[in-house]
Amino acid sequence: MKRIGVITSGGDSSGMNAAVRAVVKTALDQGCEVYGFLRGYTGVLNGKYSIMDSRAVSGVIQRGGTILQSARCEEFKTEAGQLKAVSNLFGLGVEGMVVIGGDGSLRGANVLAGMGMPVIGIPASIDNDIFGTDISIGADTALNVIVGAVDMIKDTASSHDRAFIIEVMGRNCGYLAAMSAIACGAEVAIIPEIGFDLGKIAERLYARFKEGRTNSIIMVAEGAMSAYEVENQLKDRIGYDIRITVLGHLQRGGSPTVFDRILASRLGRSAVEALLRGESGKMVGQVKNRIVLTDLDEVLGTCKMVDLEMIELTDILGR
Ligand code: F6P
Repeated sequence: MKRIGVITSGGDSSGMNAAVRAVVKTALDQGCEVYGFLRGYTGVLNGKYSIMDSRAVSGVIQRGGTILQSARCEEFKTEAGQLKAVSNLFGLGVEGMVVIGGDGSLRGANVLAGMGMPVIGIPASIDNDIFGTDISIGADTALNVIVGAVDMIKDTASSHDRAFIIEVMGRNCGYLAAMSAIACGAEVAIIPEIGFDLGKIAERLYARFKEGRTNSIIMVAEGAMSAYEVENQLKDRIGYDIRITVLGHLQRGGSPTVFDRILASRLGRSAVEALLRGESGKMVGQVKNRIVLTDLDEVLGTCKMVDLEMIELTDILGR
């Protein structure tokens, strides 16, 4: 293989640049040329790419976002778009692709592989909802951003005797809400994976209020319910005032943590090595600190849940 392509696709996550850097440096080291397509599958469809040398990835390991930019490409979801993408790639002499992104991006990678283009996926999503890896690139940085924000909110919550409902990202997954609840000492985590009863939560918070515990933090995953809906159900029932903070897209930014930089570097290198060994239709992941390859069919066909132990822990420690 003499020419490989790389894209970052879907919602960006901090550490994507570290992964691109590792892909480029490993490929160059193996004598391969790297085409970095811009804005995910959109760049593949429009033929927008740059040829990446090691200067192109210099000084990027500490930067959030993605130097290749990202997009959610509607055209690529159509059969015509997929045919055009694969024929563009073959036309450019690209012999293998590395796709860095979340669930939707990896679905696209699997389609490309099915059409005969060798592809390896790298999991990158703050949601950490991808099977085949203990953690995806960006989730650790997002958690650190959330914990920093909630620590500050806790100061004002205690000064004013208030409950704060803090909405975090996680479309179908409560990983960020559950893990940040543990790390911040939150009283409640509301996540889509398990049923929740807001009546019972209100009773619990009111019982604490009667004991003189007059502030609290309630973490809610956007995929479970909006913070405003939660407030509607809790207001006037817990004994003290409620305020809302929706953390939004700030969770996707920031300089990647050491953990994300190393994870991304390992996965980037392994993805290129797998391609060069002739692997395709697979994703590289980190499981129990080892790098493993999993078929994209299995990755995409398996639902990843927040660890039950973590769910129990949020409940026990929130009491
Ligand atoms: O999939 C990652 C994610 O950050 C989700 O947590 C969130 O629901 C979504 O992307 C937001 O997407 P967009 O930036 O397109 O609004």
